[in-house]
Amino acid sequence: MASPLSATHKETEFMSRKILVTSALPYANGSIHLGHLVEYIQTDIWVRFQKLRGHQCTYVCADDAHGTAIMLKAEQNGISPEGQIANIKAEHEKDFSDFQIAFDNFHSTHSPENQELSGLIYQRLVENGHIATRTITQAYDPEKELFLADRYIKGTCPKCKSPDQYGDNCEVCGATYSPTDLIDAKSVISGATPIQKDSEHFFFKLPEFSEFLHNWTRAGHLQSEMANKLAEWLDAGLQEWDISRDAPYFGFEIPGQTGKYFYVWLDAPIGYIASFKNFCENQDKNTQGLNWEDYWLDDNSGDPKLNNGTELYHFIGKDIVNFHALFWPAMLHSAKFRTPTAVNVHGFLMVNGSKMSKSRGTFINARTYLNHLKPDYLRYYFAAKLSNGVDDLDLNLDDFIQRVNSDLVGKVINIASRTARFIQKSGGSLGSTIENEALWQQCVSAGETIAALYEGREFAKAMREIMNLADAANEYIAAKEPWTLAKVEGNEQVVVDICTQALNMFRAIATYLKPVLPVLVANAEAFLNEELDWANDIQFKTNHSINKFKPLLGRVEKDQVDAIVEDSKEELNAMNQAENQANDAQTSDSELAKEPLAPEIDFNAFAQTDLRVARIVKAAHVKGADKLLQLTLDLGGETRNVFSGIKSAYKPEDLEGKLTIMVANLAPRKMKFGLSEGMVLAAGPGGKEIYLLEPHSGATPGMRVM
Ligand code: 2FM
Ligand code: ZN
Repeated sequence: MASPLSATHKETEFMSRKILVTSALPYANGSIHLGHLVEYIQTDIWVRFQKLRGHQCTYVCADDAHGTAIMLKAEQNGISPEGQIANIKAEHEKDFSDFQIAFDNFHSTHSPENQELSGLIYQRLVENGHIATRTITQAYDPEKELFLADRYIKGTCPKCKSPDQYGDNCEVCGATYSPTDLIDAKSVISGATPIQKDSEHFFFKLPEFSEFLHNWTRAGHLQSEMANKLAEWLDAGLQEWDISRDAPYFGFEIPGQTGKYFYVWLDAPIGYIASFKNFCENQDKNTQGLNWEDYWLDDNSGDPKLNNGTELYHFIGKDIVNFHALFWPAMLHSAKFRTPTAVNVHGFLMVNGSKMSKSRGTFINARTYLNHLKPDYLRYYFAAKLSNGVDDLDLNLDDFIQRVNSDLVGKVINIASRTARFIQKSGGSLGSTIENEALWQQCVSAGETIAALYEGREFAKAMREIMNLADAANEYIAAKEPWTLAKVEGNEQVVVDICTQALNMFRAIATYLKPVLPVLVANAEAFLNEELDWANDIQFKTNHSINKFKPLLGRVEKDQVDAIVEDSKEELNAMNQAENQANDAQTSDSELAKEPLAPEIDFNAFAQTDLRVARIVKAAHVKGADKLLQLTLDLGGETRNVFSGIKSAYKPEDLEGKLTIMVANLAPRKMKFGLSEGMVLAAGPGGKEIYLLEPHSGATPGMRVM
């Protein structure tokens, strides 16, 4: 029997698989951006492929609606959390649909199904003795009356003394610490000094699943890179997982408790089940009579990949692998639910070789892209770069323009645009013979290779195979020159046969591209006057009327991509302005004056500071640092390397050649990125407003100013 995971239709009888697929649930406090879309596009392509091959494949998702961040966002927007999540859900659904992400169901974790399932699973964990309770001490905001997660606390790094660092690690020196070690710690929410407060928490006893997870992570459910990573964590020993949060919190109250809520990450993956259950219970959507329990309740068969003959796949990014490949299978196992067939992990999106950056305009929202370009271009580019590994994917904007124009317009569409008119001229019907049988067979047999590559999520390789076919078709047309033949009377039939051959190759190529390019292929189907199907080997089409050829997709112009980048920068400016205004409105002068003064120093201590004029000879970005620029400073003969946290305010090229003032006798400090030999003086509230102190005119590098 064919393996349920194999793509081939040839051996034995075709077996339709029952597949359930999920993508990670986006948080309901922000817009969908291109980084998210790597995953949704990857998953959507895989799902469309399965459906096109005749399998019963269901794709569900939901908004991840719970947690402190969403509660605070709603407050900031002056609406209820329910209002906040409803607004974002509408926005997300529109973005996904315009990107052709074809969910069978998009639900919310704040739903009755999810509340019921979370309660049920939790109850089973309790019954099985897998929940512990104990009192823990945490940072607490006494003004806001809220326990503070590390990211809601900021202060001065205890190691390098850099200000404005988060509660768990320093972005400047890379030190990790606990929020109680921060100097002058403040709540990011109210500005109050956090106090320590006790409360009782609920823990999932993850260490009891060490052996189960050791086996599960090695049983073919994960890519080998991920299995290796998890083996490191498993070897280091698992910790109990804190699954409760205290009020105020937006989420589900823990059954039988007051003021205790499930931590957002407890009910988020249960949202996969809830969305599918919601789908199954909706008669209009569930036209195939699917039963949620077949896909989720353990059938006790002991088969780790199939459950009642059903397969379950999660697509996620590598940052959330611990939740999906440790906590989640352990919880499911304890609660007598089935575990996933596979967790498919992908890398992060880079743009032009760096992390997406708001100031460079490369942090691009889905909607900003859609305002200028059709989804198919990005879908194709991502497909052309995606493998089944966890490496990051780089969207190089120049390469993007070049690649989609050359492959889609220059290769694929070109086949039809060069040949369609000759069919039209001779009455609009394809001919009756295969002009080049060997070439056609090449197209058909490539189908099996391409299908296996889609199945294994090797989309880049699949795109290369398809483009090879497009090259072969274009070479065939170029060699036959139907436009030259057509000039001679009596050649009508041979011209029709050549164009019939070319258009059949175009049909095969369009079919193979259908999972990736829904818009382009829908246009191609209208032109070809048929619905392209890939449940079986593709048959050569003869004596079939086709429609007049219209351009299927235009070229991407550089102006359009530039406009996306410009708009993204403007969105950032608008957001900063709105935030500043909101902050100004909330912060009175007297509050600003509340910032306590540092301990007094005497004149001698002050006079020890050697301030010098320095010329910025070179300024460069620092790979992996959000805030830093690397400056090469000329101190009048001596050169210093200094890392300075002024990236949000200055472009490196604008700094080069300028004079500034530096503390020249500061002891060198070893930072994560290298040795910093001094400090450049800057002042300001942050963001775009950090002003370098410019020296008076006539200053020369090395001149002492204090
Ligand atoms: O990391 C995130 O964006 C989460 N909202 C993903 C949740 S996936 C699932 F577990 F719900
Ligand atoms: Zn530090």
